[in-house]
Amino acid sequence: MSQDQEYVEHRVNELRREINLHNYYYYVLDDPVISDAEYDRMLAELKDLEDKYPRLKHPGSPTMKVGAPPAGQFQHREHSLPMYSLDNSFSLEEVREFVLRIRKQIPDSDPHFWAEPKLDGLAVEIIYENGLYVAASTRGDGYVGEDVTDNIRTIRNLPLALFHVDHLPEYLEVRGEVVIPRKEFARLNEDKARKKEKVFANPRNAAAGSVRQLDSRITAFRPLYFFCYGTGISRFKSGAGWQSQEDMARGLNALGLPTVPGGRICRDPEEVEQYFREQLDRRELSDFEIDGLVIKVNDIGLQQRLGFTSRAPRWAMAVKFPALQGRTRLKDIQVQVGRTGALTPVAILDPLNLGGVVVSRASLHNENEIRSKDLKIGDLVLVQRAGDVIPEVVRPETRERDGTQKDFVFPEKCPACRSPVARIDDEAAIRCLNMSCPARLEQQLIYFAGKQGLDIEGLGRQWIKVLVEKRLLYSPADIFRLTLDDLLPLDGMGKKLAQNILDSIEKAAQKATLPRLIAALGIRHVGVETAKRLAENYKDLDELAAADENSLQLIEDMGPKVASSIARFFANPQNRKLLEEFKEIGLWPSLAPGTGEDLPLKGKKLVFTGAMQALSRDRAREMVEKLGGKVSSSVSRNTDMLIVGENPGSKLTKARELGLEVLREEEFLSRITKWSI
Ligand code: IVH
Repeated sequence: MSQDQEYVEHRVNELRREINLHNYYYYVLDDPVISDAEYDRMLAELKDLEDKYPRLKHPGSPTMKVGAPPAGQFQHREHSLPMYSLDNSFSLEEVREFVLRIRKQIPDSDPHFWAEPKLDGLAVEIIYENGLYVAASTRGDGYVGEDVTDNIRTIRNLPLALFHVDHLPEYLEVRGEVVIPRKEFARLNEDKARKKEKVFANPRNAAAGSVRQLDSRITAFRPLYFFCYGTGISRFKSGAGWQSQEDMARGLNALGLPTVPGGRICRDPEEVEQYFREQLDRRELSDFEIDGLVIKVNDIGLQQRLGFTSRAPRWAMAVKFPALQGRTRLKDIQVQVGRTGALTPVAILDPLNLGGVVVSRASLHNENEIRSKDLKIGDLVLVQRAGDVIPEVVRPETRERDGTQKDFVFPEKCPACRSPVARIDDEAAIRCLNMSCPARLEQQLIYFAGKQGLDIEGLGRQWIKVLVEKRLLYSPADIFRLTLDDLLPLDGMGKKLAQNILDSIEKAAQKATLPRLIAALGIRHVGVETAKRLAENYKDLDELAAADENSLQLIEDMGPKVASSIARFFANPQNRKLLEEFKEIGLWPSLAPGTGEDLPLKGKKLVFTGAMQALSRDRAREMVEKLGGKVSSSVSRNTDMLIVGENPGSKLTKARELGLEVLREEEFLSRITKWSI
């Protein structure tokens, strides 16, 4: 072997080791050591080398996580040990009985229990031979599953080669759950909806659908994760197998395999109960959908003594969390007017308890959604509380229809002000076009005074509604003109309460910073973060209102949609008038001008040449000056930096001769946005 070849082989092995190790840090320990970019670079180098030297390709290489062409249908695959199901329980009382029963069955021992989350996904078995991934199958009927080797191979947190620890099994069957994180599930569905494809009902269906994809190249793009919770047959070269669940979890981790996170030893029913409450509390925080806990006798010797019934182990039990899904009647669909005028249909439901929260309304988002879900008023519907607390109508039970169900007709007039409504551009939403629609005003004011806005304590939804009804508020500025005389006659208002409200209005006005005030305006697509960005780039509302779409887009992370929404907001005369009113009442925060000492371009001379794509020359000059620099028209020894657009001319040649710093327009822009913040 030539020295070169030897070097390449060495490098390939080194990269594989490194990448496997970083996969382990990232996916198993959840504690990455290097940046994503560094990781991608190593993976790209390995791929390159393997392409160039195909003889070095290897089934255990981390580059093998790409799909293979479809095989037509899945082959069957028998499990060497049956994959049992679990007995379910729905209360801690049943868990207590389970523990007592076990203690009775093995009176000579005091068993400990291993408790861990029950992940809601798809059960699979994966086989490693001599540390290499060789096959995977679904649970199927427990005895025979489908061979999904090519699909499972693409799962990102699954090692294709195990770590070479002393205790490496020569044959290992691991069992676990394939899941999709909730966030990525939402993204996957958004993507599907955009492409007008059928969306998945929940993360479990998405995981199952992805694993059972005939084309594993599609699976490779699905955000799947695998977590082990047990083993089938295992054979070690030396020594015995694992002695307990805890031991096994540690052993599997040491081989580089991810296990169900959060497992813990519980010594008695009280500890199980404590663990149950903790997990239930953090249920909504978890990245993955958890539908309960699994409680297992920890000692594997004891497990063997206890054995199995025909369908489930005697040594384990699932305890389910309260359901987050349920069926109820869709009584009506009402239409609400939001602060941007969008008409949102809302499902009015027969109240239903979902995991401790009573649900009686759920947003239906827009007309398309009602149509694509085929909802009719009077339907029995499936409702769920997803990861967050916001309830959702999943689907109607169409088989339960009895002919009394009615189609929903979207109103042609705004339900609040009776003005015409229309669909703007290609948006899904239908909007009320009346800028002074009382319902819009009310929502706008609620937002303005709410947590996202100026956070005026005591001036909540209810009072704003009354104040709009009584014609005391026509715009956010009116809030600051309210007096005791206005408030006192209102039903349920006392002197003390009125004074408190006025005090907190004044307090809010005093502490109103520019970013807060921008956020409070409720411009579409401009939340608190974007407002901060804007305030870093414009010194007051007048400057922001004068900015055109192009210059807004120069701000980091500001896309055309947001820029256009801001420009449109300030193009509206009513909103301009609002700014004048703010000025009049002295609600006019601005950023204190810097001292200039630490400006990034202080004293620097810049020259522009060629045609700029994103930046007008005026805007460029303005930005440079704001950062303390000067723009001049010709290149000389005194020039600090040349910025080049399309087709630069002789200035570029000259700058090169002089050895000046030359930046392309994009580079300049990305630097400028960094500097501006
Ligand atoms: S242990 C002998 N642990 O729940 C069966 N199962 O309802 C031992 N599941 O088919 C299973 N998370 O797919 C176990 N932490 C966990 C689990 C878990 C999810 C699934 C598994 C099983 C089903 C039974």
